[in-house]
Amino acid sequence: MKIFLDTSNKNDIVKWLPTGIIDGVTTNPTTLSKEGSEPKKQILEICSAFPQGDISVEVTEQEPDKVYAQAKEIAGLAKNITVKIPCQLRYYAVIKKLVEEKIAINVTLVFTLIQATMMCKLGVRYISPFIGRWDDIDVQGADILYEIRAMVDEYGYKTQILAASLRSALHLHAAIASGADIATIAPEVLEKTLNHLLTNQGVEKFLHDWAKTGVKQFP
Ligand code: G3P
Repeated sequence: MKIFLDTSNKNDIVKWLPTGIIDGVTTNPTTLSKEGSEPKKQILEICSAFPQGDISVEVTEQEPDKVYAQAKEIAGLAKNITVKIPCQLRYYAVIKKLVEEKIAINVTLVFTLIQATMMCKLGVRYISPFIGRWDDIDVQGADILYEIRAMVDEYGYKTQILAASLRSALHLHAAIASGADIATIAPEVLEKTLNHLLTNQGVEKFLHDWAKTGVKQFP
């Protein structure tokens, strides 16, 4: 299971690297806009701070021809960049062409099994099914992960499932339990998920009880 950080904040990324559990980063126009710095500079800083990480960077053009050109330019910024393209019908031919040219593609804003299947047919590196945004409209988003996993395995596709829009421990749990290849999660959500209440309470009790022994030096 690979874990990506869903952020454009370089400092957050650098803070998490020593944990050894981070394998990449997914940025998007929204998280980049929050940084208040020049986006290309921000991306280059992230890529050089995390050269062994897989860094997803999303296109912002609208017209297919411009998306194609921008995707090539983004891919050329650094060796560890994967280009994010929204899962819209108008980009299918562009995605097909980029895959044929060996550009690493992460298809984002995937919401249905059908969309996921079409992207696997094109041989993209990643598909990013969004979970939290289904929950935002009162639909159990995690279910789609199990269906996509079964589809990829049924047809023997090589595309990796990158579970995205994960807003809670429950979403991350579903991503892992469903067999997604990767989960991308915001640093603050990951921190909250990994600081488990019962683990912390257990440590406090152990230390409280240990203090009763009066032992200062152990072993
Ligand atoms: O970056 C892609 C995805 O993880 C965005 O999540 O929370 O904006 O739906 P969210």
